[in-house]
Amino acid sequence: MSNASPINIPFLDLVAPHAELKEELCQVFSAALDSAGFIGGPMVQGFEQDFAVYCDAAHCVGVGSGTDALRFALIAAGVDSGDAVITVPNTFIATTEAISQAGALPVFVDIDEATYNMDPEKLREYLETRCDFDHGTKTLVDKKTKRRVVAVIPVHLYGQMADMDSILELAGEYGLVVIEDACQAHGAEYFSRKENRWRKAGSMGRAAAFSFYPGKNLGACGEAGAVTTNDADLAQRMRMLRDHGQAKKYYHDVEGYNGRLDSIQAGILQVKLKHLPAWTEARREAASRYRELFEDSHSKISLPYEPEWSRAVYHLFVVRAENRDELMKQLGAVGIGTGIHYPIPLHLQNAYKELGYAKGDFPVAEKVAAEIVSLPMFPQLQAGQQSRVASEVASFATAEKVAQ
Ligand SMILES: Cc1ncc(COP(=O)(O)O)c(C=O)c1O
Repeated sequence: MSNASPINIPFLDLVAPHAELKEELCQVFSAALDSAGFIGGPMVQGFEQDFAVYCDAAHCVGVGSGTDALRFALIAAGVDSGDAVITVPNTFIATTEAISQAGALPVFVDIDEATYNMDPEKLREYLETRCDFDHGTKTLVDKKTKRRVVAVIPVHLYGQMADMDSILELAGEYGLVVIEDACQAHGAEYFSRKENRWRKAGSMGRAAAFSFYPGKNLGACGEAGAVTTNDADLAQRMRMLRDHGQAKKYYHDVEGYNGRLDSIQAGILQVKLKHLPAWTEARREAASRYRELFEDSHSKISLPYEPEWSRAVYHLFVVRAENRDELMKQLGAVGIGTGIHYPIPLHLQNAYKELGYAKGDFPVAEKVAAEIVSLPMFPQLQAGQQSRVASEVASFATAEKVAQ
């Protein structure tokens, strides 16, 4: 039995970064009050410009949340009612909510067990065996639902990009629009073997959605999101969708949404964006330190896999343990915060009963969901705190072995 330390280690510390930046953040608020510029204006435009540059994308459209970003990207890219959109079952429900709210049906393909991201081979299998494809018109139809399959959303989960070369190649072959769900992957990079260069999350698909929910690598002090794209027309459509379908006040070309990015949040994000490269470096260092500590302790847990083509930004540090629930209980008992991202794959959620999926349909996602646990990870995480996490995990693993 390990000694409980009186000092807790939170899963995520959102107080420390805001304490460091308090003065600068308060200045944003003060500038907004002085000008009463709460909606649109230079703060939003300034952040959009900076974030587009950061992502190596031509355009950035600030919106109300990551969910808005996904929904507007899908609608602007032409996804319509009656269509189907492919994604993975091990994502936050916002990915599929956006698909349904664009009028389409979510379709799942399984994940790669090492990276936890979309398995391009499973995508190929779905396209080749579960769909009919008319090469002439490039129309892809799901054999079972008879829906037209029009888009795919690879999710860059936990801060690591999906294998985009393979996904883009398949999408090109079958005429699918690719929308990246980059909500957890601000600044993540992927080495494109095809282009022989590193590419940023948010620059590879037709569009990409980012969330600035407070706990994200770049987080607002409230709700916020953005879409990046290299397509000027698409950006313009999304600007209209976020603002009631109007390009000019009270002249509505389409019916849109109230999905704008608040000026205060944009100003806050612009301040924080300057610190993001250093925070990302700190996350990467923390990830390397966890790897060394776990190697030393010979514990039986599996560590995140980062292929040579990936530079992950470690939004989460997710390990796997067979007896995950017991491990979490033990860590919780000594004041160490953990989480599960996510405990129930989407195809088995009550909300999606009517989609007709069953247990066993996506065995990799299901197996992984039962074993994953996210350990404390944030830029201000201390080496000493990580040593304590690692030694608690090691003592759990040893106790397990003795009990066997
Ligand atoms: C993978 C993923 N997609 C979409 C979202 C939705 O973002 P938001 O909460 O900003 O709507 C999130 C964040 O919560 C996410 O993690």
